[in-house]
Amino acid sequence: PVMNEVSGLDNLEERLKEALNIPEVFIVPGDSDDTPWVKKEMGRAAVGRLKKFQLTRRVIAVTGGTTLAGVADMMIPSSDMEGTLFVPARGGLGEQVENQANTICAKMARKAHTDYRLLHVPDQLSEEAYQSLIEEPGVKDLLEIIKSAGIVIHGIGEAKTMAQRRKSTLDVIDKIEQEHAVAEAFGYYFNQSGEVVHKVKTIGLQLEDLERSELVIAVAGGRSKAKAIEAYLKTGIQSILVTDEGAAKALLEGT
Ligand code: BG6
Repeated sequence: PVMNEVSGLDNLEERLKEALNIPEVFIVPGDSDDTPWVKKEMGRAAVGRLKKFQLTRRVIAVTGGTTLAGVADMMIPSSDMEGTLFVPARGGLGEQVENQANTICAKMARKAHTDYRLLHVPDQLSEEAYQSLIEEPGVKDLLEIIKSAGIVIHGIGEAKTMAQRRKSTLDVIDKIEQEHAVAEAFGYYFNQSGEVVHKVKTIGLQLEDLERSELVIAVAGGRSKAKAIEAYLKTGIQSILVTDEGAAKALLEGT
């Protein structure tokens, strides 16, 4: 046998990096579609990667979702997290409280022994409400902080699943179907080519802001998300991907 033969998952990681054309991929064993605790394993891997970065006085923006809740579960303190601030990436996106970005952000900060700020904005803002909210002093300050986030940790969802989970209107669900949306992240919906086909109106991080971030970690697994992950990565955002074996294998079969 070859001495430095790579393990099965290392091999998968190499193949996936090449197939998706991204610089870094981490794969944990299992499939989170079948075994929910695999999300915690992805969480552990994401936290491990985060810790390799210089974190002192950084702003870390996080999204909601059950996967990010798994990341929050695995967060641990570290000596270089002085002055590090956790913030939610965007305002209300129609999630249950335990899966909201605000909740996850507060939990991460608590577990990391550092600070957080919360964004209190209702879901589904009208144009008028949106315009007046962004002028509110408290909101305006925080928005600047959020948009300056050097680090972003986010989930990726399957488009239809997310639209239904958010109890989107029939109009929105129709639009998502007609435009063949397959992926969702940050309240943006993408088609197979990674083009934005719909966007939930809320304040916070915009897709363009990600270009300025120094570290973007996408955490998403389960074979049911394979197409969504692939589509999202076509946006050209330089994300590091933390995923599971289920998604990785489905992705490689599909490419
Ligand atoms: C949402 C995020 O809260 O969770 C989305 O706003 C993300 O960007 C989604 O796609 C993922 O959810 P889950 O539960 O599949 O991790």
